[in-house]
Amino acid sequence: MFYVKKLLIQGGEPLHGEIAVQGAKNSALPLLAATILGGGESILHNCPDLSDVHAACEILSYLGCSLHREKDTMYVDTSVLTHAEIPEDLMGEMRSSIMFLGAMLGRIGRARISFPGGCELGPRPIDLHLSALRQLGVEIQEDHGFLDCSVPNGLHGARITLSFPSVGATENIMLAAVVAQGETIITNAAQEPEIVDLAEFLRACGAKIRGAGESVIIIEGTDSLHGSEYTVIPDRIVAATYLCAAAATGGELLLNRANPQHLGGMLGMLEEAGCRTIAGGSSIYIRGRSRLRPFKHVRTMPYPGFPTDAQALFMAVSTIADGTSVFVENIFSNRYKHVDELVKMGANIKVEGKVAVVEGVHHISGASVRATDLRGGAALVIAGLVANGETSLGDIYHIDRGYESIERNLSGLGAKIRREER
Ligand code: EPZ
Repeated sequence: MFYVKKLLIQGGEPLHGEIAVQGAKNSALPLLAATILGGGESILHNCPDLSDVHAACEILSYLGCSLHREKDTMYVDTSVLTHAEIPEDLMGEMRSSIMFLGAMLGRIGRARISFPGGCELGPRPIDLHLSALRQLGVEIQEDHGFLDCSVPNGLHGARITLSFPSVGATENIMLAAVVAQGETIITNAAQEPEIVDLAEFLRACGAKIRGAGESVIIIEGTDSLHGSEYTVIPDRIVAATYLCAAAATGGELLLNRANPQHLGGMLGMLEEAGCRTIAGGSSIYIRGRSRLRPFKHVRTMPYPGFPTDAQALFMAVSTIADGTSVFVENIFSNRYKHVDELVKMGANIKVEGKVAVVEGVHHISGASVRATDLRGGAALVIAGLVANGETSLGDIYHIDRGYESIERNLSGLGAKIRREER
């Protein structure tokens, strides 16, 4: 039965209340892949219940692992692997399926995968992953859209310099290098908090890793790893999403189980726009206001710069700000697909290549729009919350990839939002 799932949002209600931030999708996914290296039982607490996590669990069970979930804890036993390839339909469900490559090579020395799928944010090449893995001793045959990978002489350490601090490539190198013979040095490594989370989990499994979170990571290969019990960090982009929703609706919100350090300069930007924010140890308070000041210049950069995943969220807020905001998307080549949908709601946005110029308007109006990708969809939810009238948002499967029960959380904060399935 094909369900048409939409979110119906009645705008104009300021958000009030408090919610707990879910575990980080972009940490839970590489952590689930990393459990393959342990060859035993691992326990992941604060593991978010998302369709991308379900997809990762489907890959693990296809490979022969046994898993079960109790509330927000995933129990994974990877003692037995029965397959060395991941079928195309499972690979195509999400971008981070490429993470299984490094883990499978580390555990069994071979893997056959197809090119990964994921959000259409422009070409999603994996050249940095493949060239790095080749330096670790991996042989890769490309065969009609499939990659046949093997390590005829085993994995060995290497000095790898990434031309771009790719998050996924850094994670894939770590997953193979922790069990390679000898030392691996990754230069120009990604520094995102999710990289640190993966390194901490691998160290708990017995790996020897130094420097995660900085631009040089040093890994001393070990013969084998074991499983571990670990708690996933909070999702900094989901936190930013709710903060932007409170800011734009002129509401007041307390986020619990958050990590303010991971939000970098985003809290300061919301303060500059006229919000009041207070960061505690594991909580963030924000009070919005009806007419925010614009975000003068937002350039997306690798961490600790402004995260590309928050670009659409801040753009939604800027549509009704009192002035002009300029966005420069430096990370992905096609990450403005939400602009057309925001314009349908009355936003005034001009895109020229990497640059988007947003002229704040007095109000935007509810309309029938659709999610174009995960964070673009979240941006349209924020826009629907501030629009005059009702917004009907389609293709919300994009949103379900990264947000646990977004409409339940927002309703609990006073929003008029419901999921329609027919
Ligand atoms: C991760 O994607 C995240 N996904 C993305 O979040 C996030 O936007 C991105 O990092 C940047 O922070 C997960 O962690 C599952 P990259 P990833 O490799 O690893 C180019 C979300 O909304 N590139 O750092 O794919 C690439 O095309 C998602 O949760 C190459 O050219 O990001 C892009 O332009 C969206 N060759 C840039 O680097 C490669 O081999 C950044 O990619 C790899 C990447």
